[in-house]
Amino acid sequence: MKVLIHQTRDTATACVADLVVGHLARQPDAVLGLATGGTMEAVYAALIARYQSGAVSFAGAHSFNLDEYVGLSPDHPCSYWAYMREKLFGYVDMDPARAHLPRGDVADAEAEAERYEAAIRAAGDIGLQLLGLGANGHIGFNEPTSSLASLTRIKTLTASTRDANARYFDDVDDVPRLAITMGIGTILRAQEIVLLAFGAAKADVVARMIEGPVTAACPASVLQMHPKVTVVLDADAAGALA
Ligand code: GLP
Repeated sequence: MKVLIHQTRDTATACVADLVVGHLARQPDAVLGLATGGTMEAVYAALIARYQSGAVSFAGAHSFNLDEYVGLSPDHPCSYWAYMREKLFGYVDMDPARAHLPRGDVADAEAEAERYEAAIRAAGDIGLQLLGLGANGHIGFNEPTSSLASLTRIKTLTASTRDANARYFDDVDDVPRLAITMGIGTILRAQEIVLLAFGAAKADVVARMIEGPVTAACPASVLQMHPKVTVVLDADAAGALA
């Protein structure tokens, strides 16, 4: 695991954007694994700026997002489909037919999870996977106690995750209780993984991820087992490292 500690959020964000740009320069038809959450908003803003300056094209790329809330249609303003349209897809030359998220509004969410896992495999798995880090150590929506070998499936969100994501909804009671998420096993099949975290609120969980035991109690700790992971932090998020 390579750990890069930047002084500021801005340089940490720029570093992750540069890793994506470099990956696409080497492999224009790369399969990107994309994440949502507040942390990623700055990365997508940086990627839009690089696209607008001609530094990168997404025209040949494929993408698979980590997760989606069960029950929300792509048109729902709080869906991750809406997030991706508003934060990235609406501003770059990504082919909409190659940009994938699970559908949250299907009648059979379990079948949708299986379809999504099969689609990722059919694309040859993820080349570069972007990850944020949940305050409880989740990656995607793989909450603590998730099987470290899990595939795409439905997960029940913890109360702390629903509270953390309530800021995107009118009321915490509106936050869905279930999500479809790539599994930890799905994520670990990616050739390369880049995780970004910043802020003092993430310092303890960052230390558990990097220096703690590999345990389902902190799903992100499994990244210690992957051969090509880069963790990008700002100084605050690195504050509890030994
Ligand atoms: C959500 C997403 C995760 C993301 C997390 C972190 O829970 N499902 O993939 O890592 O948010 O969010 P933030 O960056 O807002 O702290």
